[in-house]
Amino acid sequence: MAAPWWRPTTGSKLIIRGSRPLVGTYPISGAKNAVLPLMVSALLTPHLVTLRNVPANLDVAVLAALLQRLGCDMHWSTAESGLAVTIAADRVQPQRIDPELVTRMRASVLLLGALLARCGEAALPMPGGDAIGLRGIDFHIAGLRAMGASIDLTAGTIRATARDGLRGAAILLPQPSVGATENLLLAAVAAAGTTTIRNAAREPEIADLATCLIAMGARIAGLGTHVLTIEGDAQLGGAVHTVLPDRIEFGTLACAAALTDGELLLARGRVDLLGVAASSFDAAGVHLRKTAEGVVARRAEGGLTGVDLTTAPYPGFATDLQAPTMALLAAAAGTSTITENIFEQRFRHVDELRKMGADIAVRGRTARIRGIERLHGAAVTCTDVRAAAALVLAGLGAKGETTLDGLDHLDRGYDAMTGKLAACGADIERR
Ligand code: EPU
Repeated sequence: MAAPWWRPTTGSKLIIRGSRPLVGTYPISGAKNAVLPLMVSALLTPHLVTLRNVPANLDVAVLAALLQRLGCDMHWSTAESGLAVTIAADRVQPQRIDPELVTRMRASVLLLGALLARCGEAALPMPGGDAIGLRGIDFHIAGLRAMGASIDLTAGTIRATARDGLRGAAILLPQPSVGATENLLLAAVAAAGTTTIRNAAREPEIADLATCLIAMGARIAGLGTHVLTIEGDAQLGGAVHTVLPDRIEFGTLACAAALTDGELLLARGRVDLLGVAASSFDAAGVHLRKTAEGVVARRAEGGLTGVDLTTAPYPGFATDLQAPTMALLAAAAGTSTITENIFEQRFRHVDELRKMGADIAVRGRTARIRGIERLHGAAVTCTDVRAAAALVLAGLGAKGETTLDGLDHLDRGYDAMTGKLAACGADIERR
């Protein structure tokens, strides 16, 4: 089995009886959006790639199954530092891609760059993932074509070949796309010559991928900046890499501590990865204090206060924190506005929060939230990964019982959230 640790959790509903302060230590896992490209990077080399601090979530399990079908051996272990996987991709068979698994997640599009680089061919359906907007892949395709790939897009299938190998190119991304930057980075390390990616995304997960690729022998300059320069043709070896902590899980649980008026030690959490969100949280009354083990989060003395925020590429306010922060602001004093600038349909949690009494009006890309003292429990449905987290938060802060369904979304993005919350005093169960 590709991910023997993955057990489909029993119970299709999550029941939360709210208004209990969260108190205790909540361990922050490795970042979902870092580990997925890191796992794909193992396809670039016949040598062993070991990843530590791997989050045990459904997206990781699905990608592991995809890699196994492609011919990778996956060896899992657990240590004090968490889950680890060693990937051996010495026999990659690109034609064995599983279309159904590809359509279950967005990050599967990264197989395109890695398989082209390693095998000179890739054929996969359009990737799946959250229904939060159009989510085109035109930047990925244009960049790979500039590197010499022939790509045909018919009947929902992407067929790409680079029989004579990829070559370096000067690429300017129309927008700093996270996925396109990662895909082109994966392709460029094996391409002949130099590639520059301008207007590259600067999310910490990209620097984490580049750090692992460098440990494998890649030559990449400009980490954490808008211009990545890659000297290609590298003979890649193996590597051992520890996945960076999940800044989205961290920010979400910081909001949960403040919303429930509790106090959480977010072990391994890092304020420096939050970007602009750190100051937005501070203004909203989410108090963060660094310690040797991580960060202690609680409500500020002055209580929760409305703020105005706009999502933007890193270091701007992360779109993946938008929904959980909205759950917090729904119970903050005063009025807040949230403008969603990354994805055009990422307000689907609003209708669910309204069922819990939230006073939210949406106009175009902006939601206006009038804070009320406390939400009330209701039956709600998770519509995407971060909407799921927002509804858990809302349930934890609400009066009475909240029932969530659509839990696959929660499982995709979070490692053992129910158990970790219960250990911090939440009245939460899967049924
Ligand atoms: N875009 C295009 N064409 C492209 C690529 C992107 O038009 O070829 C547009 C998108 O439609 C979107 C914007 O550019 O409007 C930004 O998209 P980006 O490519 O940066 O996002 P992504 O790679 O699809 C990753 C994360 C998302 C996260 C975004 C933004 C992974 C697996 N996914 O998506 O995570 O919201 O970056 O930070 O890393 C989540 O974890 O819940 C999640 C959705």
